[in-house]
Amino acid sequence: MSWTRKHLLDIESLSATELTTLLDTAKAFKAVGERAIKKVPALRGKTVVNLFIEPSTRTRISFELAAMRLSADVINFSAEASSFKKGETLKDTARNLEALNADVIIIRHAASGAPHFLSRVVSSNIINAGDGAHEHPTQALLDTFTVRERKGKIAGLNVTILGDILYSRVARSNIWALTKLGAKVTLCGPSTLVPRVFEQMGCRVTHNVDEAIADADVINLLRIQHERQRKAMFPSLAEYTNLFGLTKARFARTKPDALIMHPGPINRGVEIDSDVADCDRSVILEQVTNGLAVRMATLFLVCGGRGPQEIAG
Ligand code: CP
Repeated sequence: MSWTRKHLLDIESLSATELTTLLDTAKAFKAVGERAIKKVPALRGKTVVNLFIEPSTRTRISFELAAMRLSADVINFSAEASSFKKGETLKDTARNLEALNADVIIIRHAASGAPHFLSRVVSSNIINAGDGAHEHPTQALLDTFTVRERKGKIAGLNVTILGDILYSRVARSNIWALTKLGAKVTLCGPSTLVPRVFEQMGCRVTHNVDEAIADADVINLLRIQHERQRKAMFPSLAEYTNLFGLTKARFARTKPDALIMHPGPINRGVEIDSDVADCDRSVILEQVTNGLAVRMATLFLVCGGRGPQEIAG
């Protein structure tokens, strides 16, 4: 199937076929990135704006590099140095960007639904780079891409997501992507952060970490999202590490080929032992590398690309 969507707002609304088109397009762009000349003219003449109203390292930089690799002009919007500080609204900000012919607006915002709102008020292509605790679509795509590349498939794999699920947009997007592609997803963490309501998304929920990691082919760790929690969700970080951290002792009880993943930023010594983060089964930096190809694919497709068949091999 060819891609036809103008925006990438979430994973929930995508079909398995659309997800596969995105992943296959990213694979083609990864091959482009391994050539001596890594730049292609696909988005020449287009203007891409990185509208990040929340902090970011990986997502903002890889979207910027992806747009540059596609020959687009890129503008990085800094909320701190903008007229947001003078009370300008998100809608007015976006309409001003549209007036400057922004073809694509990539938005990260603390409010869930902000990208969907922008898609209704401006004509630019909108990409969700993380909205509140709702979704982080390109993170799920790069995670899924990394698993598929390493394991050769998604369907049938046991994937455990361990940590703060309740406040995590990464968890929600991963759950949608993985279940649509046929993986079996287990969620684990303190009961305050992993409520049973997530079973309605087709996941197994457990609060027993040993049970969660024993048969996992992939363990995706999430940090505690302190910035979104309005009250203490567990007694202390030390207790969290003791009960739910991927310590060396717990790592020793995982399957010998289980992949260790984390979207970053990692909190060494809290959700993951520092040596485990750096071990040879950790693909944390591979995820970052794959994010570039996934974001090139996303930009290419929302700007009118139809799929991997359009990328010269
Ligand atoms: N994983 C992720 O979204 O990282 P950044 O917040 O640094 O973009």
